[in-house]
Amino acid sequence: MEKVAFTQMKDGTKEEYEFLTAHEIDHTKHTAKRLMDALVDLDQSLSGYKVTRLGHSLQSATRAWRAGADIDWVVSALLHDIGDIYAPYNHDEYAATILRPFVREQCAWCVQTHGDFQMLYYGHHVGGDPNKRDRFKGSPYFDDCAAFCENWDQASFDPDYDDLPLKFFAPMVEEVFARTPYDPDVTKAGVRVPLENAALAAERQ
Ligand SMILES: [Fe+2]
Ligand SMILES: [Fe+2]
Repeated sequence: MEKVAFTQMKDGTKEEYEFLTAHEIDHTKHTAKRLMDALVDLDQSLSGYKVTRLGHSLQSATRAWRAGADIDWVVSALLHDIGDIYAPYNHDEYAATILRPFVREQCAWCVQTHGDFQMLYYGHHVGGDPNKRDRFKGSPYFDDCAAFCENWDQASFDPDYDDLPLKFFAPMVEEVFARTPYDPDVTKAGVRVPLENAALAAERQ
């Protein structure tokens, strides 16, 4: 079979759906590569800053790496703005949706809410609410997202910072997206891992 025969899903056979499932599994194997390509596309988005969106993403991930953060944090930092391409009004939710099956719940939550937390830094200049993040007070991950934004996101617009290149992060993206999606050992509901690890940070300088 090269293609299914049906033109309406309701007419498909078991064999056809097994055939399609095999195709989908093969397709998912290349998610990491597609995301890396999308990151390169980010280079063309959002002019006006001193760094491109790709530069901002690399800088956020580099800061996470140099802080001694684990792979879930580093990959989340790298991809946290990937939604800027197609979802400018909810880019945080878009990125979190991509990451959620493959990273710790803690990291997906921070990516999902980072847009509101970032308002702390500029909301007062644009007629927004700088304290928009307060709606999340009581979340176990509130302090983590506050630190994510303070240390990595809002700080990563410096053209003179020594960013690590995209290829440095490629194996980490490959590893994360090769995980079993929604595996409880991956999503680790309720587990908080610090954003910083001094011993690892010292090794990575
Ligand atoms: Fe963002
Ligand atoms: Fe960002």
